Amino acid sequence: MSICYLDGTYQPLTEARISPMDRGFLFGDGAYEVIPVYSRRPFRIAEHIARLGRTLDAVRIPNPHTAAEWEAIVSELVARNAWVDQSIYLQVSRGPDERRNHAFPAVMRPTVFLMSEALVTPSADVLASGVAAVSAADFRWARCDLKTTALLANCLLRQVAIDKGCAETVLFRDGFLTEGAASNIFVVRDGVMLVPPKSHLMLPGITYDVVLELAATHGLEHAVREILEDEVRTADEVWLTSSTKEVLAITSLDGRPIGDGRPGPVGREMHAWYQEFKNTVMRVG
Ligand code: PDD
Repeated sequence: MSICYLDGTYQPLTEARISPMDRGFLFGDGAYEVIPVYSRRPFRIAEHIARLGRTLDAVRIPNPHTAAEWEAIVSELVARNAWVDQSIYLQVSRGPDERRNHAFPAVMRPTVFLMSEALVTPSADVLASGVAAVSAADFRWARCDLKTTALLANCLLRQVAIDKGCAETVLFRDGFLTEGAASNIFVVRDGVMLVPPKSHLMLPGITYDVVLELAATHGLEHAVREILEDEVRTADEVWLTSSTKEVLAITSLDGRPIGDGRPGPVGREMHAWYQEFKNTVMRVG
């Protein structure tokens, strides 16, 4: 049985209830995080809570907890659920109002909701073959740096991939790579790892930061710069990164192979560094 946290109470997920007047439901008016947990230890929790704080500040929802309180709630939820590796979903909405009104309520009572699922990272088979992706024009709003629950555009864009039997949609805006529908995108050309700079057009991924740190630690040549659509299509390797997918090769885009159509050596190495980092930093000590 999955245990969730709703406004101060730990309870079975199937019993949790919120008001239909919650602005999270009516307007998608909320912020969220997805935090991977390895061996019952939340990964980069301080960074996830800091990013949550930045989103809440930007959308003017009062942050209901200090960082220490957030960490305590996450720890308790992890302890109350059965899985050793978990994916924690954390959401704060602007809360309920008496009537539907675009303007914020005079007094905001944010709704805090967390749930846990088993963390399922890509299987050995998927890692060995990589995944197929499609591309689409990035038609989202101009604050993609905020992790808000208003994800209809991301859902529509992801579904373009699903409808074609693919795993992810790679997004281009004005001829440049932004990110995936629910991931950041890295490219390898001539042995150099490339990734777009953080901006209001993409989510600053926690995994993105880890991958850049690992590249620096292991001396992998890399550059953070704008990437042309054509540079993605003709890349030697393309990867997606996220908290739940970690580092995963994209081996075809719009039906055409990336490189030789198999996961490339740089991505395999990065995946191994990521696993090593997890196993040394997270699972022991
Ligand atoms: N999504 N870009 C977008 C649009 C995302 O939704 C995500 C993650 C990322 C990667 O961020 P991180 O490395 O911090 O997970 C980039 C989560 C997993 C989700 O919505 O389920």
